[in-house]
Amino acid sequence: MSESVIAEKPFDQYAVIGHPIEHSQSPRIHAAFAKASSQRMVYEALLSPLDGLAQTWATLRANGGRGANITVPFKVEAMALCDQLSDRAELAGAVNTLSVLADGQVRGDNTDGAGLVRDIETNAGWQLAGQRVLLLGAGGASAGVLGPLLAAGVAHICIANRTLAKADKLAAAFAGMGSVSTAASSALAQSNDSASYDLIINATSASLQGKSIDIGASWYRESSAVYDMMYGFDTAFLAWARGQQISRRRDGLGMLVEQAAEAFYVWRGVRPDTQALLSSLRAELD
Ligand code: ATR
Repeated sequence: MSESVIAEKPFDQYAVIGHPIEHSQSPRIHAAFAKASSQRMVYEALLSPLDGLAQTWATLRANGGRGANITVPFKVEAMALCDQLSDRAELAGAVNTLSVLADGQVRGDNTDGAGLVRDIETNAGWQLAGQRVLLLGAGGASAGVLGPLLAAGVAHICIANRTLAKADKLAAAFAGMGSVSTAASSALAQSNDSASYDLIINATSASLQGKSIDIGASWYRESSAVYDMMYGFDTAFLAWARGQQISRRRDGLGMLVEQAAEAFYVWRGVRPDTQALLSSLRAELD
């Protein structure tokens, strides 16, 4: 007598592709989402050679890959892998989520801004609508969040960057979506002639170099909120804010978890609960 064997559907394959990649929390986050929502999928971290993004993605696809997250330094380059782009990826000029559609086409999306907005509004409980935002940096991280911040109804965004021309270019690209101005980072140390800012978001990589950004007292109030997109360590920028008695301070761990949840939703059509995971990651990192 032979046993009947029911063929199980294979696990769908996903990955995060970056360079470096060993410290990525994404495999852990997606494994937790998959478990909690009973999704049959696996998610791994793939180190891509700096000149080998297309090959790494091709190999993942050949092995049955259904999608990938793209991280530093490949988010702009990944646009070239896409047959189609979501509006938010097009606006950001960068892709952090690739999906293989039913017809084999590759769709690029960008969930970073949605992750930031959700972390600020839902997790931190800070209002965005009507607020004046000072956005530090004009690289890919800033480009990814400008559209969603403006769509959330902020009153004004000032993009401040060391290289003013990069801030001006970004401001011009987003001017049609709302009120956007620019400043040179060097001007932040001096007095600000207009009103102070309600929220300061650090989207520079200064924290990675252990550096803060010099901001004079007229740019903020004690009641302002300060957000650093970095996470996993006490950044010099958040330490500065603490020193200014600014009590509303937040790092980027919630943004990381929320952009992952949004990517998971894009792939699986299921919106995972983020609260339990965020609490346990927070407890571990603290
Ligand atoms: P990402 O994709 O993470 O945004 P990026 O495109 O290299 O990375 O951009 C890094 C941003 O951090 C830039 O805005 C950069 O300023 P410049 O455009 O003038 O180079 C900013 N940045 C990096 N180190 C900085 C520092 N020590 N102080 C202030 N800004 C810094």
